[in-house]
Amino acid sequence: MQTLHVELGERSYPIYIGSGLLARPALLAAHIAGRQVAVVTNETVAPLYLQTLLQSLAGFNVTSVVLPDGEAHKNWETLQLIFDGLLSARHDRRTTVIALGGGVIGDMAGFAAACYQRGVDFIQVPTTLLSQVDSSVGGKTGINHPLGKNMVGAFYQPKAVLIDTASLETLPARELSAGLAEVIKYGLICDEPFLGWLEANMSALRNLDQGALTYAIERSCAAKARVVGADERESGVRATLNLGHTFGHAIETEQGYGVWLHGEAVAAGTVMALEMSYRLGWLSAAERDRGIHLLQAAGLPVVPPQDMGPEQFLEHMAVDKKVLDGQMRLVLLRHLGEAVVTADYPREILDATLRSDYRALAQSLTS
Ligand code: NAD
Ligand code: GLY
Repeated sequence: MQTLHVELGERSYPIYIGSGLLARPALLAAHIAGRQVAVVTNETVAPLYLQTLLQSLAGFNVTSVVLPDGEAHKNWETLQLIFDGLLSARHDRRTTVIALGGGVIGDMAGFAAACYQRGVDFIQVPTTLLSQVDSSVGGKTGINHPLGKNMVGAFYQPKAVLIDTASLETLPARELSAGLAEVIKYGLICDEPFLGWLEANMSALRNLDQGALTYAIERSCAAKARVVGADERESGVRATLNLGHTFGHAIETEQGYGVWLHGEAVAAGTVMALEMSYRLGWLSAAERDRGIHLLQAAGLPVVPPQDMGPEQFLEHMAVDKKVLDGQMRLVLLRHLGEAVVTADYPREILDATLRSDYRALAQSLTS
């Protein structure tokens, strides 16, 4: 087992990474203050992993809240089901909420923990690649609004993150690829040598090679922990973690939550950020294409939805959380491995980026 740390003063916490950790009771018990625990999961993950987790929680007074599965349920109605479960089982302020599932469960259970009786402890037990490399670390919690992705939420750090890499064995291939979008993101924004490693190991990752997956998770979590430790509430460098997300969130909202997976929308959005960085003269065509190739090799879409033009993108991008005082700040790449957050770009470059023929670009790379 490897242990990393998110350094945030009194809110610091460990990230445990290893195979079979769900069945290690002591790891959880060390972070549970009272006797009451509420496990929040969903109807897909519960039959796979809830029993093992409950066995590790023997001796605690445990309530399980099993939610409907999917991004389309990341909303007020489903959040209410968590509060219903907590209140009907009389959970008090020493309760610990455990999120068992992907990023949707982690974001919602974390938000519920932030709100329940003005805040109770919570632990992240992420079971998708995306949640293991990104969403479980850093304390962003929340739900979607019909007008904007993740628009209602709170910064609320977990007490611990327990990553059982064996849980990836049941993950559908499409979901694994979605997680790889966020892994590739770390290489693009802050770790250029990691891109070379990913190019060499993409097949191993997609074939669920445990050694390769564990290495990619550790390197991703280390990057995320560094960034969050430096800028917990996103007043600076943390915004670079949103490479491709401003375009991607527009895709998710416009297409309907869950139609494009979050990681898929981030992948297509990252291609748009690469293209804009190229148009600004910051990346060469070869560097842009290297990023796109890697996303393709991960089995991800690299062409935004054909039914979305500049108007649809701009409508959704205007409500992005990086918009400040009406200025649309974007995460772009100065170089591979170096991201900036800026509103200082010619408007015509953004317009040209939104009008680019990504289908032709993708075809030119595969032919
Ligand atoms: P998800 O939570 O919807 O999980 C994907 C699918 O995999 C679901 O159907 C889920 O039930 C299933 N699943 C989970 N674990 C499984 C397993 N081990 N075996 C088989 N099936 C399994 O999606 P996700 O990609 O994990 O997370 C996406 C969400 O995370 C989005 O809502 C996004 O906004 C959010 N997110 C948050 C942050 C953050 O910092 N808080 C960062 C990135 C993404
Ligand atoms: N996923 C972006 C962040 O945690 O800041």
